[in-house]
Amino acid sequence: MSPRVLLFTGKGGVGKTTAAAATATLAARRGLKTLIVSTDTAHSLADALDVEPGEVAPGLHLHQVDTQKSLERHWGDLQQYARGVLGELGLDEITSEEITVLPGAEEIIALLELREHAREGRWDVIVVDCAPTAETLRLLALPEALDWHVGRLLPVGRRIVRLVSPFVRSVAHVSTPGEEVMSAGERLHRGLMEVRELLTGDHASVRLVLTPESVVLAEARRTLTSLSLYGYRVDAVIANRVFPSGGADEWRAQWAAAQSRLLAEAEQSFAPLPIHVVPYLPAEPVGKEALASVGEAMYGESDPFAAHDVEPPLRLSADELVLALPGAGRADVDLARKGDELIVTAGPYRRILALPAALARRKITGAALRDGVLRVVFSPGSESGA
Ligand SMILES: Nc1ncnc2c1ncn2[C@@H]1O[C@H](COP(=O)(O)OP(=O)(O)OP(=O)(O)O)[C@@H](O)[C@H]1O
Ligand SMILES: [Mg+2]
Repeated sequence: MSPRVLLFTGKGGVGKTTAAAATATLAARRGLKTLIVSTDTAHSLADALDVEPGEVAPGLHLHQVDTQKSLERHWGDLQQYARGVLGELGLDEITSEEITVLPGAEEIIALLELREHAREGRWDVIVVDCAPTAETLRLLALPEALDWHVGRLLPVGRRIVRLVSPFVRSVAHVSTPGEEVMSAGERLHRGLMEVRELLTGDHASVRLVLTPESVVLAEARRTLTSLSLYGYRVDAVIANRVFPSGGADEWRAQWAAAQSRLLAEAEQSFAPLPIHVVPYLPAEPVGKEALASVGEAMYGESDPFAAHDVEPPLRLSADELVLALPGAGRADVDLARKGDELIVTAGPYRRILALPAALARRKITGAALRDGVLRVVFSPGSESGA
């Protein structure tokens, strides 16, 4: 049985860690074997739960990634290669400490570990507290972009190094990776593809955390579009820090009114996704008890661990490609074809889709974006001219 994987993302500070920890606490209390992990190295999960990593409650396990240790395990061969390349140029070798400073490295390691946990077969539910919006997105898009590069442009080893560091990238062409590095690169690549499969698979979904503020809402909308672009399935929105109305002084009444307007807007933007509301509590919800009540309030009667029924955003048929881009307008979306690839751009995000053989040789006869769904129609014939 594959575990149910729940990812929490959203803008910085909106309550991702709180929502993730509350969900995990609730899962464990309902008898599900639960693992909670973070892709960011700030150890806020342990702070929120007010525990040390490990078995933190019956059935609830908190895993903290030890970046340095994992790096040595996963990327040992790679470091060797990076060292070799830099050595050739007469530069100091790059140390593993330096590699971890590079953007994205820690999250990638955390995701590789996540895949190992998912494989273990020990967990019913895996909850992932993701890094703030943009970072998570870039990260989630990485394996696929990498796959494209790996397949088409450069030998694996070089590509992987490129992923590691723009600096190393600029010098990587001076050296050809040896056999052992190629295989390390391939291993890493395969690992990342498996992570992607896990996170876009039938058992995984993303929960988008927001607070009812216009700036946050605007970003959440873009996040939804881009998550969908990359094939991730969002199954719920969590509106955190909602002021209770009633008995209000002028200050609170104004906030409550503004928030309820924004919540109404959010409902429109995100329909048909459910919006789970968490009240602004009188104190920080720290510790298992407080988090369990947040969990109860957040999900009410609904079952947060049930299978989701969200369709994969990308669907291919004999003569059509359909990609859900909720919230995207015509001005945001761009489509380009390059040989057997389709390049879809939504705002600042881009996805390169390798067309399946059946479509790759056909002409595109039409493309339209309607109600947040991009539809690309291919000619019925098998050969294409232009
Ligand atoms: N509903 C709430 N009521 C009161 N305080 C809350 C609520 N939700 C979260 N907090 C508090 O707000 C702070 C930020 O929450 P949290 O750490 O969960 O946000 P985050 O999105 O994970 O932040 P980051 O982007 O830094 O990871 C914490 O101190 C948390 O205890
Ligand atoms: Mg956090």
